[in-house]
Amino acid sequence: MSLSTQPYKGARDFYPEDKRIQKYMFGKLREVVESFGYQEYDAPILESFDIYAAKSGEEIVNEQLYSFEDKGGRKVAIRPEMTPSVSRMVAARRQELPYPLRLYSIPNLWRYERPQRGRLREHNQLNVDLFGVEGLDGDAEIIQVADAILKSFGAKSSDYEIRINSRGYMNQQFESFGLSDDQKHLCLKLLDKQSKIEPNEFEKMFIEKLGDGKGSQLLNFLKSEEVPKPVAELLRVLNLSGVESAAYDPAIVRGLDYYTDIIFEVFDTDPENNRSMFGGGRYDGLVGLFGAEPVPTVGFGMGDVTLQNFLEAHGLLPGLGPETDAAAILIGDVYAKAQAVVGEFRKSGLKIAVDSSGRKLDAQIRSAVKSGVRYAIFIGEKELQSGRFQLRDLKNGTEKELPKGDIVSAIQESRAG
Ligand code: HAM
Repeated sequence: MSLSTQPYKGARDFYPEDKRIQKYMFGKLREVVESFGYQEYDAPILESFDIYAAKSGEEIVNEQLYSFEDKGGRKVAIRPEMTPSVSRMVAARRQELPYPLRLYSIPNLWRYERPQRGRLREHNQLNVDLFGVEGLDGDAEIIQVADAILKSFGAKSSDYEIRINSRGYMNQQFESFGLSDDQKHLCLKLLDKQSKIEPNEFEKMFIEKLGDGKGSQLLNFLKSEEVPKPVAELLRVLNLSGVESAAYDPAIVRGLDYYTDIIFEVFDTDPENNRSMFGGGRYDGLVGLFGAEPVPTVGFGMGDVTLQNFLEAHGLLPGLGPETDAAAILIGDVYAKAQAVVGEFRKSGLKIAVDSSGRKLDAQIRSAVKSGVRYAIFIGEKELQSGRFQLRDLKNGTEKELPKGDIVSAIQESRAG
């Protein structure tokens, strides 16, 4: 029996062409979040099971967690999200850390899900979290960062919609309708599943669970067009900071239990890809769960799978060639002699792969073309003596004989262009 070459179900291999896209995306993410003053951190992929059991919510804990007992009998889990880890880290140094504290990371996360478009069993998720800023200013900054990221990839405001709601406001309304804690929780769960349920069915479920009176009150509230005050104020601030795609949406609830107030979710407006891309919100209670004095916190998580789908759907991914600038193609048995000149090219900043196979020129050129590298530099006895080399542009077939320095500048210019 031969072993399967497939990766584990719902997980990805990254061949160089895939990794290039990832590097491009992560590069932009880092650039934008760092421009807002966020600093990168990391944490172990394995955490104690308890940190998720406390507040992440039933779906993650009961259905999606990769958890097991280690050899020492400790119950551990592979992280399904980063928020509990970063809260733990902040709690551990609650007193020493400077506030406002701006942190980001791009961890690989694991959830046991049914793989489908936009959802896998592992993904990388940009986490951007702001600690120590209470209220709307913090919320506005976080949403501004999310908006700036999409724009940095060349997205237009009309390509996406930032749908905002307030759990704080919803809770107040739920209380005013006299809902018990259990009923509140149930409502949030139902609302979270709303997009997957037929509208009629959804209304029936509400009435069934809450009874005629409370059920209809709630449905009316959900249909009301009135924007709650805190959301209206946030929208005003966002508008002043150039965020044009934000709107109130009472149907946004977010699936995780720890959110306490403003929540948001960003949707692709392309009808082919009309789905939630990422989201976040305010969670003022998590740091406190670790026994530290609470810290007001707001943040979001943006997955690489949904981001890439979005960029592809809108034609925003550039063509990305390999990192290597040129293949050194050896004419005859000059491997040892060619090392000095190749070394000089490398010192000048070129990335060069030497074909050390000893094959015929044709075969070497075919491999270079297949690898996607832009240039070939031909090196033989004659070239080593004269110090002039053939530089072939494998994209358009043109060829020039140039001295070393000119080869370096020709390649560098083409990179810049
Ligand atoms: P989340 O909504 O569970 O929130 O995940 C955030 C984003 O991660 C999703 O919108 C999606 O882009 C991506 N994502 C989640 N699960 C998967 C999956 N199975 N496959 C592909 N992509 C996925 C959180 O995780 C919060 N901890 C985010 C946060 C940070 N809130 C505050 N700070």
